[in-house]
Amino acid sequence: MRAVDLIRKKRDGQELTHEEIGFLIKGYSEGAIPDYQMAAWAMAVYYQGMSARETADLTMHMASSGDMIDLSSIRGVKVDKHSTGGVGDKTTIVIGPLVAAAGVPVAKMSGRGLGHTGGTIDKLEAIGGFSVELGQEQFFRQVNEIGLAVVGQSGNMTPADKKLYGLRDVTATVESIPLIASSVMSKKIAAGADAIVLDVKTGSGAFMKTLDDSIRLAKAMVDIGTQVGRSTIAVISDMDQPLGYSIGNALEIEEAIATLRGEGPKDLEEVCLILASHMLVLGGKAENEEAARAILQEKLASGEALERLKMMVEAQGGDTRQIEDAGLLPKAELHVEVKAEKRGFVESIQAEEIGVAAMLLGAGRETKDSVIDLAAGLSLRKKIGDPVEVGEVLAVLHLNPPFQDRLEEASRKVKEAYGITDEKVPRRPLVFALITPEGVRRF
Ligand code: URA
Repeated sequence: MRAVDLIRKKRDGQELTHEEIGFLIKGYSEGAIPDYQMAAWAMAVYYQGMSARETADLTMHMASSGDMIDLSSIRGVKVDKHSTGGVGDKTTIVIGPLVAAAGVPVAKMSGRGLGHTGGTIDKLEAIGGFSVELGQEQFFRQVNEIGLAVVGQSGNMTPADKKLYGLRDVTATVESIPLIASSVMSKKIAAGADAIVLDVKTGSGAFMKTLDDSIRLAKAMVDIGTQVGRSTIAVISDMDQPLGYSIGNALEIEEAIATLRGEGPKDLEEVCLILASHMLVLGGKAENEEAARAILQEKLASGEALERLKMMVEAQGGDTRQIEDAGLLPKAELHVEVKAEKRGFVESIQAEEIGVAAMLLGAGRETKDSVIDLAAGLSLRKKIGDPVEVGEVLAVLHLNPPFQDRLEEASRKVKEAYGITDEKVPRRPLVFALITPEGVRRF
Protein backbone atom coordinates (compact mmCIF):
# COMPACT_ATOMS: atom_id res chain seq x y z
CA MET A 1 0.00 0.00 0.00
CA ARG A 2 1.27 3.52 -0.77
CA ALA A 3 0.08 6.74 0.84
CA VAL A 4 0.07 8.56 -2.49
CA ASP A 5 -2.48 6.09 -3.92
CA LEU A 6 -4.77 6.58 -0.92
CA ILE A 7 -4.52 10.37 -1.19
CA ARG A 8 -5.44 10.12 -4.88
CA LYS A 9 -8.33 7.76 -4.13
CA LYS A 10 -9.79 10.17 -1.57
CA ARG A 11 -9.07 13.19 -3.79
CA ASP A 12 -11.17 11.50 -6.49
CA GLY A 13 -14.07 11.00 -4.11
CA GLN A 14 -13.75 7.28 -3.45
CA GLU A 15 -14.25 5.49 -0.16
CA LEU A 16 -11.19 4.13 1.66
CA THR A 17 -11.34 0.70 3.26
CA HIS A 18 -10.85 -0.06 6.97
CA GLU A 19 -7.33 -1.33 6.19
CA GLU A 20 -6.43 1.71 4.10
CA ILE A 21 -7.45 4.13 6.85
CA GLY A 22 -5.54 2.02 9.36
CA PHE A 23 -2.46 2.15 7.11
CA LEU A 24 -2.58 5.96 7.05
CA ILE A 25 -3.15 6.42 10.79
CA LYS A 26 -0.55 3.86 11.85
CA GLY A 27 1.97 5.11 9.30
CA TYR A 28 1.46 8.71 10.37
CA SER A 29 1.67 7.91 14.10
CA GLU A 30 4.90 5.99 13.62
CA GLY A 31 6.47 8.63 11.41
CA ALA A 32 6.52 6.47 8.26
CA ILE A 33 4.06 8.83 6.53
CA PRO A 34 5.29 12.44 6.52
CA ASP A 35 3.26 15.54 7.44
CA TYR A 36 2.96 16.67 3.81
CA GLN A 37 1.21 13.48 2.73
CA MET A 38 -1.11 13.45 5.73
CA ALA A 39 -1.92 17.12 5.13
CA ALA A 40 -2.78 16.36 1.50
CA TRP A 41 -5.03 13.52 2.62
CA ALA A 42 -6.75 15.75 5.24
CA MET A 43 -7.39 18.36 2.54
CA ALA A 44 -8.83 15.66 0.27
CA VAL A 45 -11.16 14.67 3.15
CA TYR A 46 -12.04 18.33 3.69
CA TYR A 47 -13.32 18.54 0.10
CA GLN A 48 -14.64 15.02 -0.45
CA GLY A 49 -15.92 14.13 3.02
CA MET A 50 -16.07 10.61 4.37
CA SER A 51 -18.85 8.04 4.59
CA ALA A 52 -20.25 7.13 8.02
CA ARG A 53 -18.34 3.86 7.84
CA GLU A 54 -15.05 5.57 7.00
CA THR A 55 -15.59 8.09 9.82
CA ALA A 56 -16.20 5.28 12.33
CA ASP A 57 -13.10 3.42 11.07
CA LEU A 58 -10.97 6.55 11.41
CA THR A 59 -12.31 7.05 14.94
CA MET A 60 -11.46 3.52 16.02
CA HIS A 61 -7.98 3.60 14.49
CA MET A 62 -7.25 6.84 16.35
CA ALA A 63 -8.84 5.58 19.59
CA SER A 64 -6.64 2.48 19.54
CA SER A 65 -3.45 4.39 18.69
CA GLY A 66 -2.73 4.78 22.43
CA ASP A 67 -4.10 3.70 25.81
CA MET A 68 -7.72 2.50 25.83
CA ILE A 69 -9.10 2.89 29.34
CA ASP A 70 -10.95 -0.17 30.61
CA LEU A 71 -13.65 0.96 33.04
CA SER A 72 -15.08 -2.52 33.56
CA SER A 73 -13.92 -2.61 37.20
CA ILE A 74 -16.33 0.25 37.90
CA ARG A 75 -19.84 -0.99 38.69
CA GLY A 76 -22.80 0.24 36.65
CA VAL A 77 -23.29 1.84 33.26
CA LYS A 78 -20.64 4.51 32.82
CA VAL A 79 -22.06 7.50 30.98
CA ASP A 80 -19.75 10.25 29.78
CA LYS A 81 -20.73 13.78 28.80
CA HIS A 82 -18.82 15.91 26.36
CA SER A 83 -19.37 19.55 25.50
CA THR A 84 -17.82 20.83 22.30
CA GLY A 85 -16.38 23.87 24.01
CA GLY A 86 -17.84 27.19 24.92
CA VAL A 87 -17.57 30.24 27.13
CA GLY A 88 -18.72 30.02 30.73
CA ASP A 89 -19.47 26.32 30.31
CA LYS A 90 -19.17 24.83 33.78
CA THR A 91 -21.73 22.08 33.15
CA THR A 92 -19.40 19.19 34.07
CA ILE A 93 -18.90 20.60 37.57
CA VAL A 94 -22.66 20.67 38.11
CA ILE A 95 -23.64 17.54 36.19
CA GLY A 96 -20.93 15.21 37.54
CA PRO A 97 -22.07 15.44 41.18
CA LEU A 98 -25.73 15.62 40.16
CA VAL A 99 -25.83 12.39 38.18
CA ALA A 100 -23.48 10.66 40.64
CA ALA A 101 -25.97 11.48 43.40
CA ALA A 102 -28.66 9.86 41.22
CA GLY A 103 -26.64 6.64 40.92
CA VAL A 104 -24.86 6.98 37.57
CA PRO A 105 -21.08 6.54 38.01
CA VAL A 106 -19.01 9.35 36.51
CA ALA A 107 -15.41 8.47 35.65
CA LYS A 108 -14.49 11.60 33.78
CA MET A 109 -11.38 12.71 31.98
CA SER A 110 -11.41 16.36 31.10
CA GLY A 111 -9.16 18.80 29.31
CA ARG A 112 -7.54 22.14 29.93
CA GLY A 113 -8.64 25.33 28.23
CA LEU A 114 -7.01 26.97 25.25
CA GLY A 115 -7.82 30.32 23.63
CA HIS A 116 -11.30 31.67 24.31
CA THR A 117 -12.67 28.46 25.83
CA GLY A 118 -12.04 27.28 29.37
CA GLY A 119 -11.30 23.75 30.55
CA THR A 120 -12.87 21.82 33.42
CA ILE A 121 -9.50 20.75 34.79
CA ASP A 122 -8.32 24.36 35.15
CA LYS A 123 -11.57 25.27 36.86
CA LEU A 124 -11.26 22.46 39.40
CA GLU A 125 -7.70 23.52 40.14
CA ALA A 126 -9.09 26.82 41.42
CA ILE A 127 -10.11 24.79 44.50
CA GLY A 128 -7.10 24.83 46.82
CA GLY A 129 -5.19 21.53 46.85
CA PHE A 130 -7.45 19.79 44.32
CA SER A 131 -5.46 17.18 42.41
CA VAL A 132 -6.45 16.30 38.86
CA GLU A 133 -3.84 13.56 38.63
CA LEU A 134 -4.93 10.28 40.18
CA GLY A 135 -3.37 6.90 39.54
CA GLN A 136 -5.66 4.56 37.64
CA GLU A 137 -6.32 2.36 40.66
CA GLN A 138 -7.24 5.36 42.80
CA PHE A 139 -9.43 6.74 39.99
CA PHE A 140 -11.41 3.48 39.76
CA ARG A 141 -11.60 3.08 43.55
CA GLN A 142 -12.89 6.63 44.00
CA VAL A 143 -15.64 6.14 41.41
CA ASN A 144 -16.68 2.87 43.05
CA GLU A 145 -16.72 4.52 46.49
CA ILE A 146 -18.32 7.90 45.82
CA GLY A 147 -19.57 7.60 42.24
CA LEU A 148 -17.46 10.45 40.89
CA ALA A 149 -13.93 11.41 39.86
CA VAL A 150 -12.72 14.05 37.40
CA VAL A 151 -9.12 13.87 36.25
CA GLY A 152 -6.91 15.19 33.45
CA GLN A 153 -6.41 13.11 30.32
CA SER A 154 -3.79 10.38 30.62
CA GLY A 155 -0.48 11.02 28.86
CA ASN A 156 -0.83 8.48 26.10
CA MET A 157 -4.44 8.61 25.00
CA THR A 158 -5.15 8.97 21.27
CA PRO A 159 -1.66 10.09 20.19
CA ALA A 160 -2.70 9.75 16.52
CA ASP A 161 -5.48 12.29 17.05
CA LYS A 162 -3.11 14.63 18.87
CA LYS A 163 -0.66 14.56 15.97
CA LEU A 164 -3.32 14.84 13.28
CA TYR A 165 -5.19 17.64 15.11
CA GLY A 166 -1.93 19.60 15.39
CA LEU A 167 -1.37 19.16 11.64
CA ARG A 168 -4.95 20.17 10.78
CA ASP A 169 -4.58 23.27 12.89
CA VAL A 170 -1.82 24.60 10.62
CA THR A 171 -3.14 23.32 7.28
CA ALA A 172 -6.66 24.81 7.36
CA THR A 173 -8.28 21.39 7.70
CA VAL A 174 -9.86 21.66 11.15
CA GLU A 175 -13.28 22.63 9.81
CA SER A 176 -14.23 19.24 8.40
CA ILE A 177 -17.17 17.50 10.02
CA PRO A 178 -15.87 13.91 9.69
CA LEU A 179 -12.45 14.98 10.99
CA ILE A 180 -13.90 16.88 13.99
CA ALA A 181 -16.40 14.11 14.76
CA SER A 182 -13.77 11.36 14.65
CA SER A 183 -11.32 13.45 16.68
CA VAL A 184 -13.81 14.09 19.50
CA MET A 185 -15.26 10.58 19.49
CA SER A 186 -11.84 8.85 19.42
CA LYS A 187 -11.07 10.50 22.77
CA LYS A 188 -14.45 9.58 24.25
CA ILE A 189 -14.14 5.97 23.11
CA ALA A 190 -10.56 5.65 24.41
CA ALA A 191 -11.79 7.04 27.74
CA GLY A 192 -13.94 3.93 28.08
CA ALA A 193 -17.55 5.06 28.67
CA ASP A 194 -20.44 2.73 27.80
CA ALA A 195 -22.68 5.60 26.75
CA ILE A 196 -22.07 9.20 25.71
CA VAL A 197 -24.17 12.37 25.93
CA LEU A 198 -22.84 15.07 23.63
CA ASP A 199 -23.53 18.73 24.16
CA VAL A 200 -22.88 20.30 20.78
CA LYS A 201 -22.75 24.06 21.11
CA THR A 202 -24.04 26.34 18.40
CA GLY A 203 -23.61 30.08 17.90
CA SER A 204 -21.02 32.85 18.14
CA GLY A 205 -18.92 31.23 20.87
CA ALA A 206 -19.01 27.73 19.40
CA PHE A 207 -16.99 25.79 16.87
CA MET A 208 -20.10 25.51 14.74
CA LYS A 209 -21.70 28.89 14.19
CA THR A 210 -24.91 27.73 12.48
CA LEU A 211 -27.60 25.33 13.65
CA ASP A 212 -27.43 23.25 10.45
CA ASP A 213 -23.68 22.70 10.81
CA SER A 214 -24.09 21.86 14.50
CA ILE A 215 -26.74 19.28 13.65
CA ARG A 216 -24.50 17.79 10.93
CA LEU A 217 -21.62 17.49 13.41
CA ALA A 218 -23.87 15.99 16.08
CA LYS A 219 -25.30 13.46 13.62
CA ALA A 220 -21.81 12.41 12.55
CA MET A 221 -20.83 11.83 16.19
CA VAL A 222 -24.03 9.96 17.06
CA ASP A 223 -23.50 7.77 13.98
CA ILE A 224 -19.97 6.94 15.11
CA GLY A 225 -21.09 6.03 18.63
CA THR A 226 -23.90 3.87 17.27
CA GLN A 227 -21.64 2.08 14.78
CA VAL A 228 -19.04 1.24 17.43
CA GLY A 229 -21.55 0.05 20.02
CA ARG A 230 -21.67 3.01 22.44
CA SER A 231 -25.14 4.46 22.98
CA THR A 232 -24.77 8.08 21.97
CA ILE A 233 -27.15 11.04 21.81
CA ALA A 234 -26.51 14.73 21.25
CA VAL A 235 -28.20 17.90 22.44
CA ILE A 236 -27.63 21.09 20.47
CA SER A 237 -27.35 23.92 22.99
CA ASP A 238 -26.97 27.67 22.67
CA MET A 239 -23.56 29.31 22.68
CA ASP A 240 -24.64 32.58 21.14
CA GLN A 241 -23.96 34.08 24.54
CA PRO A 242 -21.94 32.71 27.49
CA LEU A 243 -23.64 30.14 29.71
CA GLY A 244 -24.50 31.61 33.11
CA TYR A 245 -22.96 34.89 34.25
CA SER A 246 -19.42 33.92 35.29
CA ILE A 247 -16.39 33.36 33.11
CA GLY A 248 -13.07 32.47 34.71
CA ASN A 249 -11.91 29.53 36.78
CA ALA A 250 -12.69 30.33 40.45
CA LEU A 251 -15.69 32.42 39.37
CA GLU A 252 -17.13 29.45 37.50
CA ILE A 253 -16.59 27.13 40.47
CA GLU A 254 -18.54 29.62 42.58
CA GLU A 255 -21.37 29.65 40.04
CA ALA A 256 -21.39 25.84 39.79
CA ILE A 257 -21.67 25.61 43.59
CA ALA A 258 -24.55 28.12 43.58
CA THR A 259 -26.28 25.99 40.91
CA LEU A 260 -25.86 22.86 43.02
CA ARG A 261 -27.50 24.82 45.86
CA GLY A 262 -30.42 25.64 43.55
CA GLU A 263 -29.37 29.30 43.52
CA GLY A 264 -27.56 29.44 40.18
CA PRO A 265 -28.50 31.08 36.89
CA LYS A 266 -31.57 29.51 35.33
CA ASP A 267 -29.98 28.98 31.90
CA LEU A 268 -27.11 27.01 33.41
CA GLU A 269 -29.43 24.99 35.64
CA GLU A 270 -31.72 24.15 32.75
CA VAL A 271 -28.95 23.01 30.37
CA CYS A 272 -27.49 20.89 33.19
CA LEU A 273 -30.88 19.30 33.92
CA ILE A 274 -31.44 18.48 30.26
CA LEU A 275 -28.01 16.88 29.77
CA ALA A 276 -28.13 15.09 33.11
CA SER A 277 -31.62 13.72 32.32
CA HIS A 278 -30.29 12.07 29.19
CA MET A 279 -27.40 10.64 31.19
CA LEU A 280 -29.81 9.08 33.69
CA VAL A 281 -31.88 7.53 30.92
CA LEU A 282 -28.80 6.09 29.15
CA GLY A 283 -27.47 4.95 32.52
CA GLY A 284 -30.68 3.00 33.15
CA LYS A 285 -31.68 5.03 36.22
CA ALA A 286 -34.85 6.53 34.72
CA GLU A 287 -37.47 5.43 32.20
CA ASN A 288 -37.61 8.73 30.39
CA GLU A 289 -36.50 12.37 30.58
CA GLU A 290 -39.42 13.51 32.75
CA ALA A 291 -38.77 10.81 35.34
CA ALA A 292 -35.06 11.63 35.24
CA ARG A 293 -35.70 15.34 35.77
CA ALA A 294 -37.83 14.64 38.84
CA ILE A 295 -35.01 12.57 40.37
CA LEU A 296 -32.42 15.22 39.59
CA GLN A 297 -34.50 18.07 40.99
CA GLU A 298 -34.87 16.12 44.20
CA LYS A 299 -31.07 15.61 44.35
CA LEU A 300 -30.57 19.36 44.00
CA ALA A 301 -33.23 20.26 46.56
CA SER A 302 -32.02 17.75 49.15
CA GLY A 303 -28.42 18.99 48.94
CA GLU A 304 -27.20 15.50 47.93
CA ALA A 305 -25.71 16.78 44.67
CA LEU A 306 -23.71 19.48 46.44
CA GLU A 307 -22.63 16.93 49.05
CA ARG A 308 -21.32 14.73 46.22
CA LEU A 309 -19.16 17.59 44.94
CA LYS A 310 -17.78 18.01 48.44
CA MET A 311 -16.98 14.29 48.61
CA MET A 312 -15.08 14.46 45.33
CA VAL A 313 -13.15 17.54 46.43
CA GLU A 314 -12.19 15.83 49.67
CA ALA A 315 -11.19 12.60 47.92
CA GLN A 316 -8.97 14.53 45.48
CA GLY A 317 -7.22 16.52 48.19
CA GLY A 318 -9.11 19.80 47.79
CA ASP A 319 -10.22 22.28 50.43
CA THR A 320 -13.89 21.49 51.15
CA ARG A 321 -14.28 24.73 53.14
CA GLN A 322 -14.21 26.52 49.79
CA ILE A 323 -17.25 24.52 48.71
CA GLU A 324 -19.12 25.43 51.89
CA ASP A 325 -18.06 29.07 51.67
CA ALA A 326 -17.25 30.17 48.12
CA GLY A 327 -15.91 33.43 49.58
CA LEU A 328 -12.75 31.44 50.36
CA LEU A 329 -12.02 30.70 46.69
CA PRO A 330 -9.23 32.76 45.04
CA LYS A 331 -10.30 36.39 44.53
CA ALA A 332 -8.82 39.01 42.20
CA GLU A 333 -7.57 42.29 43.69
CA LEU A 334 -9.13 44.61 41.13
CA HIS A 335 -12.71 44.91 39.94
CA VAL A 336 -13.51 47.15 37.01
CA GLU A 337 -16.98 47.86 35.68
CA VAL A 338 -17.80 48.05 31.98
CA LYS A 339 -20.79 50.34 31.45
CA ALA A 340 -23.35 50.70 28.69
CA GLU A 341 -23.10 53.76 26.46
CA LYS A 342 -26.49 53.22 24.89
CA ARG A 343 -29.93 52.47 26.31
CA GLY A 344 -32.12 49.70 24.95
CA PHE A 345 -32.15 45.92 25.11
CA VAL A 346 -29.26 43.48 24.89
CA GLU A 347 -29.61 41.88 21.48
CA SER A 348 -26.40 39.85 21.28
CA ILE A 349 -23.30 39.00 23.30
CA GLN A 350 -20.42 37.76 21.15
CA ALA A 351 -19.39 34.84 23.33
CA GLU A 352 -16.04 34.41 21.63
CA GLU A 353 -15.11 38.05 22.30
CA ILE A 354 -16.08 37.63 25.95
CA GLY A 355 -13.91 34.50 26.11
CA VAL A 356 -10.98 36.38 24.58
CA ALA A 357 -11.46 39.24 27.09
CA ALA A 358 -11.34 36.73 29.97
CA MET A 359 -8.21 35.23 28.47
CA LEU A 360 -6.56 38.67 28.26
CA LEU A 361 -7.27 39.17 31.97
CA GLY A 362 -5.38 35.94 32.67
CA ALA A 363 -8.27 33.47 32.96
CA GLY A 364 -7.28 31.55 29.83
CA ARG A 365 -4.26 30.47 27.82
CA GLU A 366 -3.03 32.27 24.74
CA THR A 367 -0.63 29.41 24.07
CA LYS A 368 -0.39 25.91 25.51
CA ASP A 369 2.35 27.09 27.90
CA SER A 370 0.66 30.25 29.26
CA VAL A 371 0.24 30.37 33.03
CA ILE A 372 -3.32 31.22 34.06
CA ASP A 373 -4.63 33.35 36.91
CA LEU A 374 -7.31 31.26 38.62
CA ALA A 375 -9.03 34.30 40.17
CA ALA A 376 -9.33 36.33 36.96
CA GLY A 377 -12.36 36.58 34.72
CA LEU A 378 -15.63 38.33 34.14
CA SER A 379 -19.03 38.57 35.78
CA LEU A 380 -21.75 39.47 33.31
CA ARG A 381 -24.53 41.64 34.67
CA LYS A 382 -26.68 41.63 31.52
CA LYS A 383 -27.73 38.82 29.22
CA ILE A 384 -29.64 38.75 25.94
CA GLY A 385 -33.12 40.27 26.33
CA ASP A 386 -32.27 42.38 29.41
CA PRO A 387 -33.16 46.09 29.34
CA VAL A 388 -30.22 48.43 29.85
CA GLU A 389 -29.82 52.13 30.69
CA VAL A 390 -26.87 54.39 29.77
CA GLY A 391 -24.23 54.01 32.49
CA GLU A 392 -25.58 50.70 33.74
CA VAL A 393 -23.01 47.96 34.35
CA LEU A 394 -22.81 45.34 31.59
CA ALA A 395 -20.01 43.32 33.16
CA VAL A 396 -17.38 43.43 35.89
CA LEU A 397 -13.78 42.52 35.08
CA HIS A 398 -11.82 40.65 37.77
CA LEU A 399 -8.05 40.95 37.48
CA ASN A 400 -4.78 41.10 39.37
CA PRO A 401 -2.13 43.82 38.94
CA PRO A 402 0.20 41.84 36.60
CA PHE A 403 -2.57 41.90 33.98
CA GLN A 404 -3.41 45.61 34.33
CA ASP A 405 -1.82 46.48 30.99
CA ARG A 406 -4.48 44.31 29.31
CA LEU A 407 -7.36 46.09 31.02
CA GLU A 408 -8.10 48.59 28.28
CA GLU A 409 -8.18 45.96 25.54
CA ALA A 410 -10.32 43.59 27.63
CA SER A 411 -12.81 46.38 28.48
CA ARG A 412 -13.07 47.34 24.82
CA LYS A 413 -13.68 43.74 23.81
CA VAL A 414 -16.46 43.37 26.37
CA LYS A 415 -18.08 46.62 25.28
CA GLU A 416 -17.89 45.58 21.64
CA ALA A 417 -19.23 42.12 22.44
CA TYR A 418 -22.54 43.60 23.58
CA GLY A 419 -25.05 44.47 20.85
CA ILE A 420 -27.78 46.83 22.11
CA THR A 421 -30.93 47.63 20.17
CA ASP A 422 -34.00 49.83 20.66
CA GLU A 423 -36.43 46.98 20.12
CA LYS A 424 -37.47 44.51 22.78
CA VAL A 425 -35.58 41.24 22.25
CA PRO A 426 -37.17 37.80 22.68
CA ARG A 427 -35.37 35.30 24.94
CA ARG A 428 -33.30 32.73 23.05
CA PRO A 429 -34.03 29.02 23.34
CA LEU A 430 -31.42 27.12 25.37
CA VAL A 431 -31.57 23.95 23.31
CA PHE A 432 -32.43 23.66 19.65
CA ALA A 433 -32.43 19.98 18.80
CA LEU A 434 -31.96 16.45 20.05
CA ILE A 435 -30.11 13.95 17.89
CA THR A 436 -30.56 10.25 18.59
CA PRO A 437 -29.79 7.19 16.46
CA GLU A 438 -33.46 7.38 15.38
CA GLY A 439 -33.14 10.88 13.95
CA VAL A 440 -33.23 14.62 14.59
CA ARG A 441 -35.88 16.30 16.71
CA ARG A 442 -35.84 20.09 16.38
CA PHE A 443 -37.51 22.14 19.12
N1 URA B 1 -12.03 19.39 19.18
C1 URA B 1 -11.36 18.23 18.97
O1 URA B 1 -11.05 17.52 19.92
N2 URA B 1 -11.06 17.89 17.71
C2 URA B 1 -11.38 18.63 16.64
O2 URA B 1 -11.08 18.26 15.54
C3 URA B 1 -12.05 19.85 16.86
C4 URA B 1 -12.38 20.18 18.16
